[in-house]
Amino acid sequence: MDHPGETIQRCVLPTNAGEYSLELFREDLSAIYPGMVRFTLRVLGEDHVIAVFRTNTYEYSPTDPLDAEGAARRRMDEWMQRITADPARFAAEEGVSDWSGTKRMADVVILQGSPRADGNCAILAGWSADAVRRTGGTARVYYVQDLEIKACIACYQCYNTGRCIYRDDMGDLIDTISNAEVLIVCSPVYTNTVPAGLKLVMDRFQAHHAARTLGLTGSNPKGILLAVAGRRGADNFRCLTSVVHAFMRNAGIVPSGDILTDGMDEVRDIRAIPGLEGRVHAAILSGLLPQATTDRAPGI
Ligand SMILES: Cc1cc2nc3c(=O)[nH]c(=O)nc-3n(C[C@H](O)[C@H](O)[C@H](O)COP(=O)(O)O)c2cc1C
Repeated sequence: MDHPGETIQRCVLPTNAGEYSLELFREDLSAIYPGMVRFTLRVLGEDHVIAVFRTNTYEYSPTDPLDAEGAARRRMDEWMQRITADPARFAAEEGVSDWSGTKRMADVVILQGSPRADGNCAILAGWSADAVRRTGGTARVYYVQDLEIKACIACYQCYNTGRCIYRDDMGDLIDTISNAEVLIVCSPVYTNTVPAGLKLVMDRFQAHHAARTLGLTGSNPKGILLAVAGRRGADNFRCLTSVVHAFMRNAGIVPSGDILTDGMDEVRDIRAIPGLEGRVHAAILSGLLPQATTDRAPGI
C-alpha cells in the first residue's frame, strides 16, 4: 500500500471486527504552492482502506484558530473513540470514495459563455459543433447560463482529493473537458473580460488544477477561443484573451488559436461577416491555428 508522505503517528486498535490501524502522514506539497503541506489520516482494516481524511495548510485562513496538523490529530483522536465504540458503524459512516473519471465523453467540448442563448456566441458554438460532426466526431455544447455553478470559495479542500466540495454541474463539466481532445470557448467581451458565468467556470477549474498537480489526471486538450466584442479594435480583446489563456494553461489546456471578431455593435449578426464561418470550420478541423487572428467587421 502506498505511503502518502512521512508517517507522523500510527496506532493499532484491537476491535471485535478485527484490528484497525490508524496512520497519519505528512506530505510536502510545496511544489504546488509555497509552503503547502497535506496531512492524510488513513484507517486500515485487515487488508483494505476503511476511511481517509485529508486536510492541507491552505484551507486555514489567518484568523482560523485551527491549523491543518491540529485538525488532523483531532480527527485521529475522534476516530479512535468512534472505532473503539462501534467499528461497524464507523465503517458504514466513513466509507471511502475515490477519484475516478477517465472515460472520453466527447471529442470536442464547446463552452458557450454568452448569457444570450441565441446571440453571436451561440452561432459560433453551432458552427463549431457542425464542423466537428462533419468529421464524424462528437461535440458536446454547454450553455454556461443553463448550468448550476457555485462560486469558488477558496477553501483549498480540492488539494486534498482533487475534487471540489460542491456537488453541482462543475464535476460533469470538468470530467468532460479533461477527457476531450479540444475545448472551444465562445465568449463575448463583457467589461473587457469574460461574462461572470464563464468566470465562475474558470475559477472552479481550480479543482482540476488540484487533480492535475496531485497526479490524479493528466490530459492536455487543445483550446480554441472564439470571441466577439461590440466595439471596434483589437484592444478590446486584450484582457479577455489574457484571462482565457491563463485559465487554459492552469487547466493543462494548450491555447491553440483565437478567432476574435470585433465591431459587433454595428454588424449585430455575425453571420453577415463574409468567410467567417469557413474560418471557424477550418480552425476546428485542424484543431490548431498557427497564431491568433482578428476578424474585423466588413467595411469598418
Ligand atoms: C454587460 C455587457 C458588457 C459589455 N462590455 C463590452 C466591452 O467591454 N467591450 C466591447 O467591445 N463590447 C462589450 N459588450 C458588447 C458585447 O461584447 C457584444 O454585444 C457581443 O456581440 C455580445 O455577444 P453575444 O451576441 O454572443 O451575446 C458588452 C455587452 C454587455 C451586455
